[in-house]
Amino acid sequence: MGRRGEWREAAPNAAGTAKRTGFPILFWEHDAHASIRAERTDPVEVPVATLIDGKIISAAVRAEVAASVARLKASGRRTPVLRVVLVGDDPASASYVRGKNRACHEVGMDGETLAFDAGLSEADLLALIARLNADPGVDGILVQLPLPAHIDEKKILRAISPAKDVDCFHPENVGHLVTGEAGFRPATPAGIMELLSRSGIPTRGARAVVLGRSNIVGKPMANLLVQKGVDATVTVCHSRTRDLPSVTREADILIAAIGVAHFVTADMVKPGATVIDVGINRLDDPSHERGYRLVGDVDFAAVEPIAGAITPVPGGVGPMTIAMLLKNTLYACTGSFD
Ligand SMILES: NC(=O)c1ccc[n+]([C@@H]2O[C@H](COP(=O)([O-])OP(=O)(O)OC[C@H]3O[C@@H](n4cnc5c(N)ncnc54)[C@H](OP(=O)(O)O)[C@@H]3O)[C@@H](O)[C@H]2O)c1
Repeated sequence: MGRRGEWREAAPNAAGTAKRTGFPILFWEHDAHASIRAERTDPVEVPVATLIDGKIISAAVRAEVAASVARLKASGRRTPVLRVVLVGDDPASASYVRGKNRACHEVGMDGETLAFDAGLSEADLLALIARLNADPGVDGILVQLPLPAHIDEKKILRAISPAKDVDCFHPENVGHLVTGEAGFRPATPAGIMELLSRSGIPTRGARAVVLGRSNIVGKPMANLLVQKGVDATVTVCHSRTRDLPSVTREADILIAAIGVAHFVTADMVKPGATVIDVGINRLDDPSHERGYRLVGDVDFAAVEPIAGAITPVPGGVGPMTIAMLLKNTLYACTGSFD
């Protein structure tokens, strides 16, 4: 029994093993159960979802990558090198790119951004990618999206050598993902798989529902869950799905990746389900310094009392994405996906 802060200190692989119940609940920091407390005066058992903490789990992944990088260097091999290409001055993209480079340096890798103004021509960008592809000193190439409208994103992503495609957007790598062959895995869905496995959430035979069918999250997520060895039974939902709540209520594992704030409400969740929230949405909030706060696709306060395990936003899936990018860069450098 303890406050949420203490639980957050639990070892990453213990995250899925404990279900917090009991009395006294007044000591809990998190207030999702305030209404239950207000109504009950007896020492009842109130279930609380296990918090799947992406900050702790991603720190464990980054520590493993750092240890691998240190071993590489100790064996006389060079530092893994990631080159991030940024076109234009979108502040959100610039901030993501800074985060990626910082994360590289923290694990002992060489991460650098090649930044260009929004007027860069498609031909010049293709020429740059050809140079990076041919450079034996570059392991991973990542082109930050979105690109300016005059550049054909598909053409650019297909131009990146599959061996350096750490985002796993090249059709050859997508093919390996679908067939289950060794290869890069897209960072966000791969990060979710790490959250599930390191939290002890069983997937074999589980019903998984993926909300969203984007090429970046929804589709690769479904592909990873259905692989042999993972063995979930997967349903993918989208904006044309009929009677969505009846589908999501079937889920033992519900993954929300649609980009609509607080879309998943309590009536859409089966009691005890694992709920993974991929969404990152801005909600106006004058009480915050920036005038907004980030929330997920799941109404956390309403769903947490029902769920068996849940990721917060921020601090859930988000930190895993960069950690898995580092893993992919390491793979690109060693040529081994073990
Ligand atoms: N944490 C991270 O690292 C990370 C990484 C990537 C994305 N994200 C976040 O995850 C969210 C999804 O990203 P994305 O790139 O996958 O988004 P996306 O490309 O916009 O795709 C959204 C998907 O959700 C579906 N959808 C939208 N509204 C719906 C509704 N009302 N009911 C049912 N389905 C609906 C869409 O259906 P249709 O296909 O029918 O239009 C589409 O398949 C965003 O908030 C994004 O910021 C987070």
